[in-house]
Amino acid sequence: MAVLTAEQVEYTYRTKYQTVYALRGVDCAFEPGQMTAIVGSSGSGKTTLLSLLAGLDVPTRGSIRFKGQSTAELDRDAWRLENVSVIYQNFNLFAHLTALENAAYPLYLRKRPRKEAEEEAAAQLAAVGIRPDQYGRCPRMLSGGEQQRVAIARALAAGSGLILADEPTGNLDGENSRNIFAILRELAHERQRCIIVVTHDMELAQRTDRIVRIQDGKIAEG
Ligand SMILES: Nc1ncnc2c1ncn2[C@@H]1O[C@H](COP(=O)(O)OP(=O)(O)OP(=O)(O)O)[C@@H](O)[C@H]1O
Ligand SMILES: [Mg+2]
Repeated sequence: MAVLTAEQVEYTYRTKYQTVYALRGVDCAFEPGQMTAIVGSSGSGKTTLLSLLAGLDVPTRGSIRFKGQSTAELDRDAWRLENVSVIYQNFNLFAHLTALENAAYPLYLRKRPRKEAEEEAAAQLAAVGIRPDQYGRCPRMLSGGEQQRVAIARALAAGSGLILADEPTGNLDGENSRNIFAILRELAHERQRCIIVVTHDMELAQRTDRIVRIQDGKIAEG
């Protein structure tokens, strides 16, 4: 059964001078145990859809439902803390925390003992190829691709049922990208996570279980 659904979702950005119909009636369902790629050209609405699925905002019309309940009716901050990890296009790491602390952060928020949180964080950093001598560095002392991998480790360490990622491998070379996609896919299959990844890279998209294509704010395929 689907854990997350979009029903007739519309989203409109209104600025002083313009109205942009970013999503124009999106219907789709996402299941646990499955990794989905969202593809589509620049400006087609991928980030907008991902933000709504992550509960960062609510649709202008229609609904996003988590296990049947509309995110418009949820305490979204509490819901996200429990259930959702987002990997952002620009990482959103905390500048004053080390790589290890960044990765452990969601577990601190969930009140896990510090040692346990940091052991889990270290395991995930290792999985994405960050070396132990880099654990103590702040983001500005890491390369773009390393920062991106710390952001991914943070999402993995959180243990959330929903992992949503916006171009998570945009700064990585082919080998690292394939490794990240393999980790995410394994997580979906072995731990029944629902994983949704926006990507421009069709070769990577093909490594997921399902491809959803967005065109002009609508689902064109998938
Ligand atoms: N804050 C905003 N205000 C006004 N329009 C916006 C805003 N954010 C996005 N848009 C517009 O909404 C549409 C969808 O944008 P979105 O960011 O979802 O596209 P995207 O598919 O993620 O593109 P990209 O691949 O370039 O990241 C675009 O036409 C974009 O210009
Ligand atoms: Mg985008």
